[in-house]
Amino acid sequence: MGGMTSDGGPEGGPGGGAILFDDIGLLYTADPEREEIGGAALIVEDGVVAWVGPSSSAPRPGTGGRAVPAADRRVGLGGRAVIPGFVDSHAHLVFAGDRTAEFAARMAGRPYSAGGIRTTVAATREAADDTLATNAEALVAEMLAQGTTTVEIKSGYGLTVEDERRSLEIAGRFTAETTYLGAHVVPPGVTADDYVSTVTGPMLDACAPYARWVDVFCERGAFDEDQSREILAAGIRAGLGARIHAGQLGEGPGVRVACELGAASADHCTHLTDADVAALADSGVVATLLPGAEFSTRSPYPDARRLLDAGVSVALATDCNPGSSFTSSMPFCVALAVREMRMSPQEAVRAATAGGARALRRSDVGVLRVGARADLAVLSAPSYVHLAYRPGVPLVAQVWKDGRRVV
Ligand code: NIG
Ligand code: FE
Repeated sequence: MGGMTSDGGPEGGPGGGAILFDDIGLLYTADPEREEIGGAALIVEDGVVAWVGPSSSAPRPGTGGRAVPAADRRVGLGGRAVIPGFVDSHAHLVFAGDRTAEFAARMAGRPYSAGGIRTTVAATREAADDTLATNAEALVAEMLAQGTTTVEIKSGYGLTVEDERRSLEIAGRFTAETTYLGAHVVPPGVTADDYVSTVTGPMLDACAPYARWVDVFCERGAFDEDQSREILAAGIRAGLGARIHAGQLGEGPGVRVACELGAASADHCTHLTDADVAALADSGVVATLLPGAEFSTRSPYPDARRLLDAGVSVALATDCNPGSSFTSSMPFCVALAVREMRMSPQEAVRAATAGGARALRRSDVGVLRVGARADLAVLSAPSYVHLAYRPGVPLVAQVWKDGRRVV
């Protein structure tokens, strides 16, 4: 592919040669070494970032003799902002059915409870594989259009050995970040003890080959401390990394279990004791905040400032699911984090990119530094601050994944 061109539309096959993204108004890299660069450029080669810096010093054809290739193509961005593709580290996308009525009832004053999960479980068990895959595909496409280039996808609406296994097999068609959440709730007709034995036994055996992570909903109405510890420990023994739903509806043991077992992330963290905050800060377990859930259940938001001020690593994710947070939009979560949780725009975008990557123990995504994947979003705005300043506005103009334009 020769010659210098300006930006075109989405394209298919591999682009040959290096691409210079030029005339970037503000580049947010999420790299602590150089987190923002005004008037920036970025060179991508073979799907990874090859050079980042001020536009004025970008290697250009004829400047030869440098380790960095002079680009074969130029994509002029006309002063628009660029950010790393969002890393949505918490989503439940394999399901069927609809819970509109439950949402409407909640907005009329009914409280949210873990029990609603069973409605989706019934619909998911009934659904054909193709239906589940089509539903997940549509949500992944929504996410991509809003700048999300890496997503974690959980099982958890099957709750039989085969329904959990197929949920993970389907999730794996869309991401490498698959999470076994057989321990979402105890399904009807089974005792809790029997179900924990299944989750840690035959269901784990069937699911582990399709999963990278194990998760448990540690909450009143779902799984208690001992059950959560047992379920995560079994997953870890099977070679999975641990993550946990902790402190969504009330204070509980989830963060303690996460820190004790070296989980990558404790998610929700809406209700935390001082000891929980200290343990998160000491252990390096990421606190993943999911403000879409508080929005959609009309609940108080997590105290992000308390976590950040204590030195806890914070991630932001959508929790996209049909019950408590049916949004696929990371920009919406960024806006909520800034307006409702007193995160600065930079803290919120950092949490939605590098934070999510850390929650998935990934160093190749969520950051635009040399060697990282060339996953990025171009905003129709001069700065990432507009993600919060202009809430609800579709600002994601282009999305590039592995150096190819996909939106
Ligand atoms: O993260 N908390 C548990 N799981 C989901 C809710 C699932 C549902 O209500 O269907 C959550 O909020
Ligand atoms: Fe969740």
